[in-house]
Amino acid sequence: MCGISAVIGNENVVDTLYESIRNLEYRGYDSCGLSMIRDDRIEVRKNTGGVEEVNLKEHLTAMRGCIGIAHTRWATHGKVTAANAHPHLSFDNRFSIVHNGIINNFRCLREELQDGGVTFASETDTEVLVHLIAIAYAKLGDVEEAFLSAIRRLEGSYAAAMITSVDSSRIYAVKMGSPLVLGLNQGMNFIASDFNAFLPYTKTAMVMEDGEYAVVTVDQAKLCKAVDRSEVIRDPIHIEWDPERSRKGGYSHYMLKEIFDQPHTIKSALTIPNDDILQLAKSIQGAGTTYLMGVGTTYYVALAGQYFFSRLAGRYLPAVSSDEFNDLAVIGADDLLISISQSGETYDTNTGVRHARAQHAKTAGIVNVMGSSLSMMVDQVILQGSGPEICVVSTKAALAQMVILLLVALELGRLNGKIDTQTYETYHESITDFPPLVQKILNEISGFVRNLADRTAHYKNWMFLGRGVYYPIALEAALKMKEVTYLHAEGMPAGFLKHGTLAMVDDEMISLFFLPPPARKTLHEQTLAAVEEVKARNGPVIGFCFEDDLLAKKALDHWIELPVVAEPVPPFLELIVAQLFSYFSALKLGRSIDKPRNLAKSVTVG
Ligand code: F6R
Repeated sequence: MCGISAVIGNENVVDTLYESIRNLEYRGYDSCGLSMIRDDRIEVRKNTGGVEEVNLKEHLTAMRGCIGIAHTRWATHGKVTAANAHPHLSFDNRFSIVHNGIINNFRCLREELQDGGVTFASETDTEVLVHLIAIAYAKLGDVEEAFLSAIRRLEGSYAAAMITSVDSSRIYAVKMGSPLVLGLNQGMNFIASDFNAFLPYTKTAMVMEDGEYAVVTVDQAKLCKAVDRSEVIRDPIHIEWDPERSRKGGYSHYMLKEIFDQPHTIKSALTIPNDDILQLAKSIQGAGTTYLMGVGTTYYVALAGQYFFSRLAGRYLPAVSSDEFNDLAVIGADDLLISISQSGETYDTNTGVRHARAQHAKTAGIVNVMGSSLSMMVDQVILQGSGPEICVVSTKAALAQMVILLLVALELGRLNGKIDTQTYETYHESITDFPPLVQKILNEISGFVRNLADRTAHYKNWMFLGRGVYYPIALEAALKMKEVTYLHAEGMPAGFLKHGTLAMVDDEMISLFFLPPPARKTLHEQTLAAVEEVKARNGPVIGFCFEDDLLAKKALDHWIELPVVAEPVPPFLELIVAQLFSYFSALKLGRSIDKPRNLAKSVTVG
């Protein structure tokens, strides 16, 4: 989604500003631009395309100034055109603005402004704001007051940053419903949609809350409430993320790097204080219904969690997709909502949490980005510490979330007396031994996985099938495949296939099976039965199976053989290797892996 960045310094900041929007590229966008003040005049350069491409066309880095704002736009209102790209300029050329979010009442504001004689340069909702500010300034003669009076007319969710040639020593910013953070450094301050923008320059940050605005100079950042201008005193936070972890580090794509990062992210999940895990388990134990909620990948994480809680703790926790939560969940004061999100800024998920809070339910979150809206909104937060996830498609963050849900389910199982101490300890041991094993397996298996992906990438239609917990694993793996290859990949319970979808099977529809270890006898037999159903209709069958699975190797046309690992590790291992398979399939097809078409990293609009 759109990325905002603003920088003010003692010297020319163009390189820093340019770098900062490059650091936001991963969010997904279709156009970009910069505004800077030079000799008391605002200069705007913008166009469609990637940051480097726009730089080649518009020479962004040739701009000059000690203050500037920049933006990457993911179109919502208005097509992908240079005119609709941000920053926008007021009719009197004195104010320039970048904005993220949606101004719901922009149509009536636009009509009002047009009736007053303002000519619009774009189709965006954003442009109304910059003209409103210019008009208010003409009346009030005070920039801060003009900024606020324009903001007070907006309905919707927004984060915005503004510069003005009337006063080139301040950047103004406001947050309502869309993320905005401040980065603080000696002689240079930042405003951005997320920490990644300024992480190479400073790790000291302040998170803005809804209804606040900021006035940022070279050496100060003042935070106030928009409603009454009262000052907010907030301690800065220290970002633990290492900027090195936001770099590709020799890998050809972030997706590959993040798949290989997973031993590290599992370890980080395992170092979450056990008190936090226990506290969440106790909250579930004491709650009426506990819902697990996420959307896209995090919905599939929630679904996997549902299986962990049923099997290990004897508790059924409904998993609900965030976008359906308000229509479906019956939630009240006794209930608990556990939300799962990498970014903590997903509109659908945060809307679900607000709904639960309005019903006085308790809320918890498993979140990767510290300081994100979700992490601040919930009663209890578990920060997963997976580090920055740059590829648009989620891999390492999702896996860490599944591990955390497993740990909570184990803790609840122990509290409930559903599992004995020995099982608890054995499971803990095998998950603790998992990270070095992942490293080894990934290194050993990559060549084989690539080879198989090369040989199967020509299939246009895919079925991803599994039973039990392997069903959400199949769903998540299918989503990865769709996202990075653009192929049709349908995830489904293997047992569901014969109830309709089997009609689609022929020699052009390939099925990928997620087989459990043979030790899970019933589940294994049931999954193999589905393999036979597909084979009987001439459908090609490939799959993930374990070394000791002779039956699977007889039944499948091709398989990826995994070393025998103890429960509860097998489904995690299959997911990691399936991520790798999608990656290599997309590589073969020449797709834009880290930024697949039409997708954005954090979906902050509804
Ligand atoms: C898929 C993917 C998305 C996100 C979803 C929720 O690879 O990344 O489906 O999982 O948009 O995002 P977060 O986790 O940031 O709330």
